[in-house]
Amino acid sequence: MSKLAILGRSSGLPRSNEGMRLLFSAVIGVMLGYLFGISFPTVNVTKPLLFREKRTDCILQLHFPSSIISYIEDKDSGITTQTLLNHAWTSANSKKRNNSESNSDEIPKIYVPTNPKGAEGLAPGIVVPETDLYLRRLWGEPSEDLTSQPRYLITFTVGYSQKANIDAAVKKFSENFTIMLFHYDGRTNDWDEFEWSKRAIHVSVRRQTKWWYAKRFLHPDIVAPYDYIFIWDEDLSVQHFNAEAYIKLVRKHGLEISQPGLEPDKGLTWQMTKRLGDQEVHKFVEIMATVFSRDAWRCVWHMIQNDLVHGWGLDFALRRCVEPAHEKIGVVDSQWIIHQVIPSLGNQGTAENGRTPWEGVS
Ligand SMILES: *[C@@H]1O[C@H](CO)[C@@H](O)[C@H](O)[C@H]1NC(C)=O
Ligand SMILES: *[C@@H]1O[C@H](CO)[C@@H](O)[C@H](O)[C@H]1NC(C)=O
Repeated sequence: MSKLAILGRSSGLPRSNEGMRLLFSAVIGVMLGYLFGISFPTVNVTKPLLFREKRTDCILQLHFPSSIISYIEDKDSGITTQTLLNHAWTSANSKKRNNSESNSDEIPKIYVPTNPKGAEGLAPGIVVPETDLYLRRLWGEPSEDLTSQPRYLITFTVGYSQKANIDAAVKKFSENFTIMLFHYDGRTNDWDEFEWSKRAIHVSVRRQTKWWYAKRFLHPDIVAPYDYIFIWDEDLSVQHFNAEAYIKLVRKHGLEISQPGLEPDKGLTWQMTKRLGDQEVHKFVEIMATVFSRDAWRCVWHMIQNDLVHGWGLDFALRRCVEPAHEKIGVVDSQWIIHQVIPSLGNQGTAENGRTPWEGVS
C-alpha cells in the first residue's frame, strides 16, 4: 500500500477525510489491479473469476509499490530498476515483432553448435563432421583411392532366397550408385557368385527390418555424399524401372521423398500409391520403395525410433520433414515397379513362444 499512501499524502487531502482517503485508495487499487489483470495475456480468466481477480489485486498491490521503492532507492545509481524494466520490455517487444515478421520463412534452430556435438572443444578447422561409404585401397596415395564417387545410394534388405530378384534389381542401378545389402538371414558369402557383390557393402544382422538397419547404418553424416538414398524392400520387380530416368524426374519435380508407382492389381497397395498411367508423377508416398533426398533423410533418420519395425505410421510422420509436404512427397508414375508380396523375412527362423515367425515382420 505504500504507493497509494504516497499518492494520498501528496494529494493534500485534509486529515479529517481519513475515511474518504482509504476508500479512494481502495478504488484506485482495484482499478489498477483490474487494468493490469486484463493487460497480462497469460492470466486465465475463464473459471474462478472472482478468485483470480482478487489474486491479481494482491500481486499488484505488493509488487507495484516495491518497484516504486526500488526506483527511489536506485535513483542515484545511474541504472534504475525502472530503466531495466523498460529495457527488458522494449527488447522483448522488438524481438516479438522481429520474430513475427520472419516467422514464415525461418525454421527455429533448437541446437546451433559451431562444432558438432562432442567436438565443441576442437578448433573448427580440424573438424570433419561427415564421411562416406566409399571403399578405400590399403596402399598408395589416399587422394587416388577413389576411382569413382557414386552420387546415389541404394539399399536392399535381403535374404538369399530372393537372390534372383535382387540381382535383377541391382543391374538396374548404374555405377553412379553405391549398393548396400542388409542381410537378415546372415548369408553374405553366398552372394559372391554375382560380380557386383564385390563392390557392394554387406551388413549382416539376423532378423531385423529395414528401419532397424537404416537407423543404425545410414546415419545422415555417413550418407552425406549421396544426393538420393533409396531404401527398398527385396520383393520388388523392376523390369519397368530406370533409375537414372527416375532421378531425373525426381529432380525435375522437386520431390524430397518419393517412390516409384506400384503396379495396380498386384499385391495389396494403398489406392493413393497406385500408379496412375497417364502422368509423370503424383504426390503421395507409401513406405515400400522409398527414395529420400539428402536433406529429407537427415530429418527422417532422426524421426525413426529405435523400436520401429514396420514403418506403419511413419508415412504420415514423414510429411513433417518436408515443407510443403503435398509438393515434395510424391509417386513417380512413369517409373514403376511391381510389388510381389512375398513374406520372405517371415520365412526365416523358427516359431518363438508359439507365434509364427512372420508375425511382426514384413
Ligand atoms: C529487430 O529488427 C531491427 C531492425 O529490423 C533491429 O534494429 C533490432 O535490433 C531487432 N531486434 C532484435 C531483438 O533482434
Ligand atoms: C552417371 O551420372 C553422370 C552424371 O550425372 C551421367 O552423366 C551418367 O550418364 C550417369 N551414368 C549412367 C549409366 O546413367
